[in-house]
Amino acid sequence: MTDILRRGRLGATDDEVDEFLSSFGSDRRIFDADIEVGRAHVVMLAERGIVSDDDAAAILGALEEVRDDGFDALDDSHEDVHPAIEAAVVERVGEDVGGRLHTARSRNDEVATCIRVALRDELLGAMRDVLALRSALVERAEETDDWLVSGYTHLQRAQPTTVGHHLLSYEAALERDFGRLTDAYRRVNESPLGSAAFAGTSFGIDRERTAALLGFDAPTRNSMDGVASRGFALEAVAASLNVAVTLSRLCEDLVLWSSHEFGFVEFDDAYASTSSIMPQKKNPDTAELARGKTATVQGALNGLASNLKGLPAAYNRDLQEATGHVWDGFDAARGSARVLAGVVETAEFDREAARETTESGFVGATELADTLVRETGIAFRTAHHLVGAVARETETPTAEDVRETAREVTGEELGIDDETVERALDPRGCVDSHDSYGAPGDDGLVSEARDALERDMDTLNSLEEDLELSEERLDEAVEEIK
Ligand code: ARG
Repeated sequence: MTDILRRGRLGATDDEVDEFLSSFGSDRRIFDADIEVGRAHVVMLAERGIVSDDDAAAILGALEEVRDDGFDALDDSHEDVHPAIEAAVVERVGEDVGGRLHTARSRNDEVATCIRVALRDELLGAMRDVLALRSALVERAEETDDWLVSGYTHLQRAQPTTVGHHLLSYEAALERDFGRLTDAYRRVNESPLGSAAFAGTSFGIDRERTAALLGFDAPTRNSMDGVASRGFALEAVAASLNVAVTLSRLCEDLVLWSSHEFGFVEFDDAYASTSSIMPQKKNPDTAELARGKTATVQGALNGLASNLKGLPAAYNRDLQEATGHVWDGFDAARGSARVLAGVVETAEFDREAARETTESGFVGATELADTLVRETGIAFRTAHHLVGAVARETETPTAEDVRETAREVTGEELGIDDETVERALDPRGCVDSHDSYGAPGDDGLVSEARDALERDMDTLNSLEEDLELSEERLDEAVEEIK
């Protein structure tokens, strides 16, 4: 190992141990972040007179060259990306200059800051992916707003609804999932930089300044907490798991709906696979895989929590192993969201097959009971018994069936006319009359979903703008010194 760290306390090395210690491969994810963190740190060191403007300018120039050459140009024999970048800077400008980059910082605050910078991008990306899926759901819901279908509970036909209402149920869940991502973002967006190893530093640094240059809302409040805590990552992965769980439920419906037994939907060929032996098969593999990847996200959350739960303060090397779980979780959740947006956009829904599910299974039973309550004044429980007795006889009752059963059960004539009974049993009339807020007959369903989508797009845009502004601020501050 040519690691610059080996020139200090340690001498002898062993290749297998070096490999075991190294996070170099997975540090690709934080390469850009580390350059930005380095730039902000050096700007602040120069502004505070801790490093001369000339030295800072040379280091900043070298950092940009290292960035332009890319991660693959680094010497991969280093323990991780941080000494690799420092070594690349030293190689360009000599140790007397480049060796000042790491003044008043430690890899502990450096890596914690890098993870937060990279995780911010993942969160913003996840928000964008979720919005794309929500937008696809709203589009398809607009089209299928009045398509009848049976809703299911316990996977048994239950009551009529519309395909649009069903699709928008996932959009509504994803709105909350989006909110969880933005909530997590607030706590990710704090800067531990300047915490150094854990005890801060006697150099006159300005943590507010580096926080602002990197687009963070504020520095973390306690330097030991700054390097020791990964709660921000746990929360972000938990938010991504909420997304994944919602996606997985949608997947399950799509898989069922695409079966011959349901037949409401056909996947576009691009989102389906076939069988190596059964040539007729068109399998909904994208939805199945997205359902499966939810387990990967759940595993990431478990892996991360298990890693963190027993650690003493402050930094421990276990934390290196924690970071990979974060990226695994986001990769799985985001990949699924993007593919599902495509599935939803391109799927072909079958209006007639959906409608047929409202024709049997006595899905109008609840509405019939409600109608009896309204029209005859009997108690709901009595109406429930009565309609239950009808259901015992037939799945597709007529008004005559209802009247007859009423006579048998109560010994009296049903006090409403056939037309009213028929209206209750008609799925279209049933759905239209279910116009309570949020129900399938509520005219505002699609427009409310659109409004929510627009609000969240504004939220995402403003978070992205804040980051762009801070990037400009950092570029300007660098120019000032160079
Ligand atoms: N690769 C390390 C990580 O990901 C960087 C921090 C190393 N710090 C240390 N004290 N060894 O956590």
